[in-house]
Amino acid sequence: MGEVDPAFIQEPEHRPNLSIIQAEGIPVIDLSPIINKTLSDPSAIEGLVKKVGSACKEWGFFQVTNHGVPLSLRQSIDEASRKFFAQSMEEKRKIYRDESTISGYYDTEHTKNVRDWKEVFDFVATEPTVVPLTSDEDDDRLTQWTNKSPEYPPNFSVILQEYMQEMEKLAFKLLELIALSLGLEAKRFEQFFTKDQTSFIRLNHYPPCPFPHLALGVGRHKDAGGLTILAQDEVGGLEVKRKADQQWVRVEPTPDAFIINVCDSIQVWSNDAYESVEHRVMVNSEKERFSIPYFFNPAHNCEVKPLDELTNEQNPSKYRPYEWGKFFVHRMGGNLKKKNVENIQIYHYKL
Ligand code: OGA
Ligand code: NI
Repeated sequence: MGEVDPAFIQEPEHRPNLSIIQAEGIPVIDLSPIINKTLSDPSAIEGLVKKVGSACKEWGFFQVTNHGVPLSLRQSIDEASRKFFAQSMEEKRKIYRDESTISGYYDTEHTKNVRDWKEVFDFVATEPTVVPLTSDEDDDRLTQWTNKSPEYPPNFSVILQEYMQEMEKLAFKLLELIALSLGLEAKRFEQFFTKDQTSFIRLNHYPPCPFPHLALGVGRHKDAGGLTILAQDEVGGLEVKRKADQQWVRVEPTPDAFIINVCDSIQVWSNDAYESVEHRVMVNSEKERFSIPYFFNPAHNCEVKPLDELTNEQNPSKYRPYEWGKFFVHRMGGNLKKKNVENIQIYHYKL
């Protein structure tokens, strides 16, 4: 054990439990009733809305099949990701992320980062992405994030953009289902995402880890934005904290399915009806793993607070409003710079 780099050892509460419950449980939802149709006839999708509602309530996570995203596109991005990460460190470092943006490549070994056993490439959906320069509430200055486009594999940026367009289409459909399941108008959330979205895609590569019992691919966390749409490969390793008993449950890879989770903003908009659930990634000593989360995030100036329709005297607002961009930048800044400092969390805004 003398060779274990202490930088990767996760504190005991972040480490894997030895007994992992295999996930029967996380609902798999067939989206065929809404694919290639608009949501104009609510009665045709009533069953679907119910399933989405109970998945959001009971798990905060679900998988979707028949989602309309072409398999060929998923294969292209998967292949491109594998080719990109297979390059030498020297090549990958050419597009190293600097502190002015989230886009680019980074590996946690060389970044003063959390202790995650992975390497990452981030790419923003809107170019440029406008965000606050700092998380300081008195500072109005804005900045722009642009992408660092890898030269290899060829067409990488085009594939990323095409894939993200599909992700966005799916995300808007899911938002409608979620809105309907809360008794809201189908398009209730759309306004937060139509202009100046801060969405981005992340390619994750988790190399085999020689000390998997001490490390994690990603330590436990909640996703901060609107929705996450995750493609995981056949290796598996994602675990979700089951709301019913707080046990970690493995999300078994389902071919061609996407894993969806509701993130912090939906928890706040819904005034805790749908909670953003903790999850983490296990590593293993034999197999490398790839995953591709798409983070569907609101505009930077979106004010996140419980919706009027979902609060009343019996169920008063549980959060004070915050600006999404400030929260986001605070969170990213924490990830980039500060090890062992607690990141900003929505409970800091609890009333
Ligand atoms: C994340 C995340 C899960 C995975 O990047 O926020 O939870 O399976 N990833 O890689
Ligand atoms: Ni996550």
